[in-house]
Parts: sequence; structure tokens; C-alpha cells
Amino acid sequence: WPVMAPYVKAINDLKKQRNAVILAHNYQTPEIFHCVADIVGDSLQLAQEAVKADADIIVQCGVHFMAETSKLLNPDKLVLIPDMRAGCSLAASITGADVRLLRERYPGVPIVTYVNTSADVKAESDICCTSSNAVEVVESFGKDTVLCIPDEYLAKYVQTKTDVKILAWKGHCEVHERFTAEELLAYREANPGLEIIAHPECPPEVIKVADFTGSTSGMIGYVRENKPRKALLVTECSMASNIAADLPGVEFIRPCNLCPHMKRITLPKILESLVELKDEVTVDPLVADRARQAVERMVNLKS
Ligand code: 13P
Ligand code: SF4
Repeated sequence: WPVMAPYVKAINDLKKQRNAVILAHNYQTPEIFHCVADIVGDSLQLAQEAVKADADIIVQCGVHFMAETSKLLNPDKLVLIPDMRAGCSLAASITGADVRLLRERYPGVPIVTYVNTSADVKAESDICCTSSNAVEVVESFGKDTVLCIPDEYLAKYVQTKTDVKILAWKGHCEVHERFTAEELLAYREANPGLEIIAHPECPPEVIKVADFTGSTSGMIGYVRENKPRKALLVTECSMASNIAADLPGVEFIRPCNLCPHMKRITLPKILESLVELKDEVTVDPLVADRARQAVERMVNLKS
């Protein structure tokens, strides 16, 4: 902490001078989440906050697709990401050309794209979704069949919640696909009363043994509301660290996995980003207009 404190002060001072806002995903490390972020949340909340951002600069502490989404919704603002290499295995699993081929193969079938994708992919889609609104988005078309891409496991999870026939793609999150039902059942056996709380990017057999499944903020909300004696968050490691201090009565059992992309964002890099105004996130205007429509349709969807 003594090493980090000067960074926290410098970032918070510079943020004010530059009229910048820091949006941080729930997977960011505790020193980012608690000490420098203005807004924290899941992908949907960050997209919604990006629309409202009353600042000249947005510093996105998360991965590249999140920063791109903020840029789409704030074309006139400077959007920075502290490390341009912060990618995502789901976003890397599909291209705009793949989506065009899917549209040819399934004419008339709406294409719902998870926000964990590039602007190119969003531009070829009818609407975006996140893990917190995927079922609602899929059902919003009133159609029998919908393509839900690129996360195969999210698509399978949505299929358990709707009568709409879901067609999937074979993308996976490299963090969530590593969890297994066997390891979770072993933790449950060793910890009577344990509540298992999973993200829908987990494989179906993992979701089957979970007591609750939801977006990162949904998972946090569940723990805050139910205050289980012992909780296992089947997701990225920082989630439990970020909420543990507020919930002293909950013991977090932690077989967590790190997201190497999220972990590229650090306090020194955030400071450098604010000092040097880099790395700027840009989207080709021709792609941006169409991608923005897909994100806006999602953000404007009323529940
Ligand atoms: P959430 O929308 O639930 O925050 O998920 C984003 C993500 O990247 C999970 O791996
Ligand atoms: Fe992508 Fe998975 Fe990392 Fe989320 S946790 S950013 S889905 S690789």
C-alpha cells in the first residue's frame, strides 16, 4: 500500500485537472476499484454510465471491447485505455466477416451479439446484450429462433431460460471455461453451507451445481442480499477481493481464475494514461455508426 498511495493521489488529482472520469469493471484490482474509480460495475452498467459521462475524458479500466463501447457511445470524448493490449478471448473468437457469413447462412434470424466483441462484430449485429440482459434481449424480437454469439456457454445458459431456439457460436471465456463441476462439488463437500455463485460464461455443468447464476454485478448483489456464511464466486479473482471488506460475515472460498487481460490495467499505467493521454481508443466512423446502433438498441431496451 505505501508504494501505491502516491499513485492513488496523483491519479485522483490529475483526474480532476483533466475533467476525466474513471470507469472500472468489477474485475479490476481492489486499489483501482476502491481508490481511483468513479464508477464501478458490470458491462451493462459501464455502458449505461458511459452514456451519462459528464467529462471530457473517459479512462476505461477494463478490457478493450469495454473501452470501444464507451467510445461508440461518446464519439466526441477522448476515451483512453491504460493498456491497449487488454483483450478478451471471447472478443477474439469472432470477426465481422464471420457474422456476415452467419447472416447468409441463417437469413431472417436476428443476431444478438454479446458486448464482449469488437466494434466490427457489433456493426454486423442487430443488437447487443450483456450477461445481465441476454434473455430479455433474445425475447425482444418475438421470433422463434435467434443467434446468440459468440459465447457458447452464455447461449446455452440463455437456452435454459427461454423457449426461443438459440443458435450459438463456439467462443469461450478463457477464465470461466477452466472451472469444473468436480472441483466445485469438492469445495461444497469440504464446506457445509457453502453457496456457489456462478457467471453465465461458465460451462453448463458448472452452472448446474451453482445456487445462483448472474452477471458480475448480479453475483455481487446476490451475496450482499443473502449474506451466506460461506460463498464461492465462480469467476475472476478480484471480485471476491473487491467486496470482502464490506461483508465481514461472509467467508469467501477462493478457487478463482485470473483474467490476464483485466490484470494488464495497473495504477502506474492509469497514471501514465492520464499524464500522456494514451492509449486513445478510436473506431472507424463507418463501423462506429452501425456498431453504436446495436449498443444503443440494447441500452434503450426497457425491461
Ligand atoms: P459482466 O457483464 O457480467 O460484468 O461480464 C463481463 C466479463 O467480461 C465477464 O467475464
Ligand atoms: Fe474476456 Fe473472460 Fe477476461 Fe471477461 S474474464 S474479459 S470474458 S477473457
